[in-house]
Amino acid sequence: MNNAVIHLDSVSKIYGKEEAEVRALDSVSISIERGDFVAIIGASGSGKSTMMNIIGCLDGATEGTYHLDGIDTGTLDEYQLAQIRNRKIGFVFQNFNLIPRTRAVDNVSMPLAYAGVHRKERRERALEVLDSVGLAARADHKPSQLSGGQQQRVAIARALVTNPVLLLADEPTGALDTKSSHEILDLFESLHANGRTIVMITHESDVAARANRVVRFQDGHIIEDHRLRDVNAHPLATAVPL
Ligand SMILES: Nc1ncnc2c1ncn2[C@@H]1O[C@H](COP(=O)(O)OP(=O)(O)OP(=O)(O)O)[C@@H](O)[C@H]1O
Ligand SMILES: [Mg+2]
Repeated sequence: MNNAVIHLDSVSKIYGKEEAEVRALDSVSISIERGDFVAIIGASGSGKSTMMNIIGCLDGATEGTYHLDGIDTGTLDEYQLAQIRNRKIGFVFQNFNLIPRTRAVDNVSMPLAYAGVHRKERRERALEVLDSVGLAARADHKPSQLSGGQQQRVAIARALVTNPVLLLADEPTGALDTKSSHEILDLFESLHANGRTIVMITHESDVAARANRVVRFQDGHIIEDHRLRDVNAHPLATAVPL
């Protein structure tokens, strides 16, 4: 587990009590290596969002241990968990979750404000990351003035601005048309090519096929763990000199 960004050891998540008890995750163990691009798939109710909430330190396990980047998250209090979320994880959601009526650059710089970075540096870094997702020219646009694909790229820029060890995406292409979906997946691929660790939840098998490893959940269990490519392999490897 030395090079693991994520390490779950017999993690269970139990909702409710006695007869109403639901084991949303049932003794799940998995390691995800630094630099990997992993898709999590499974039917509705199989435990994907529960898994995302635990990996994202949004919710704690009922049983078992979860190490994020070597840190035992079970030992942390609420404040420390909030710090970990801010510093180590970039979140991307299906519906972008941008702040309305707020310019792209200000949406992107928001996590840096929580991290205590000064205003000028916040703006510089936000502009840099917006540029890296191809949206330098849209920095002053508000979410309502951007297409869905552009809004998702702003959200990805916001997720990346703190330089997190992990990019955690829940159905990132779920609200997008085919063309925009491909653009977002191309962006994920190039982020992965640059060494970023990505965990992506998806319903769609063609989306999952863009990842290097596909983990399938059923009834709170991992029933399939399939590696499509090596951890650091990516389709762009030969096309883009880095
Ligand atoms: N807060 C909760 N209280 C009780 N049961 C819950 C709670 N959250 C989830 N569950 C149950 O846990 C199981 C796993 O739910 P989860 O949301 O992780 O599924 P999912 O794979 O994300 O599904 P979907 O694809 O529909 O989003 C389901 O049976 C669900 O009903
Ligand atoms: Mg879900």
